[in-house]
Amino acid sequence: MQQNNHENSIRELTNISQGQRASDGDGVQLTRLIGSQQIDMLDPFLLLDHFESDQPNDYMGGFPNHPHRGFETVTYMLAGKMRHKDNAGNEGVIAANGVQWMTAGRGIIHSEMPEQESGLLKGFQLWVNLPKSHKMTAPAYQEFSAAQLPIEYADDGSEIRVIAGTTDKGLTGPVINTHVTPTYMDVHLPAGASFNQSLAITDNAFIYVIKGSIAVGNKGNLLSENQLGILSAGDKVTVSTNNTSPSEESDFLLISGKPLHEAVARGGPFVMNTEAEVLQAYQDYQNNKF
Ligand code: CO
Repeated sequence: MQQNNHENSIRELTNISQGQRASDGDGVQLTRLIGSQQIDMLDPFLLLDHFESDQPNDYMGGFPNHPHRGFETVTYMLAGKMRHKDNAGNEGVIAANGVQWMTAGRGIIHSEMPEQESGLLKGFQLWVNLPKSHKMTAPAYQEFSAAQLPIEYADDGSEIRVIAGTTDKGLTGPVINTHVTPTYMDVHLPAGASFNQSLAITDNAFIYVIKGSIAVGNKGNLLSENQLGILSAGDKVTVSTNNTSPSEESDFLLISGKPLHEAVARGGPFVMNTEAEVLQAYQDYQNNKF
């Protein structure tokens, strides 16, 4: 009987990172977890920022008008509200547990501003690369409120909010991306619960712990609050709550995608395949071609 080496292979933690403090937009304080000194990128993911503050000075400046070209920005809120507005007339507010999956494609100019003057603002922005064939595609939005995102409830009390991808029980998230077929799940585990998820063997995948701590894979290596853990290749992700801390519940994101294996040329808000294409993006922006 022949068997593929990777079949039934459980993914383990290979790299743990806390990210680095950074400031972006008009002085927004955040933690950069991908696109950082520790993790340059995890193909197809170019950047992951986590913002979390109840101090208005940390977020009030927001992200005034700025361009993007060549990739997608994914904003997922956990607390507070962000208003977005672009130069094509699109406008909306993303609230807690809502997501905006924006394809910048050939270019948009937009602003992302907190829709609040006090209280907690907490969420994530992920940048997902587009393949060369689609970097100049038309801009597009996929936007879903908390009520529009399906949740799978398991007998052990765990809850999986599915933004993209399909759970092992068959619940599929609404976001469509055929380039990297992403998985983006927000998982809640009560104390003693566990989580199992199949992924394509060679997709790149990571977990970010929002709350508590978790044990990952067969080895049960621990990943703590506010840590990002990159996972090895394999077709299964297994997570359980930390049994050295038996009353602890946890929340985490599981994100994965198919690597594009293409050259990456970055220039601030533009991510293309070559330096010349990045220069072209700056010129087009300067010449009001966005
Ligand atoms: Co932006």
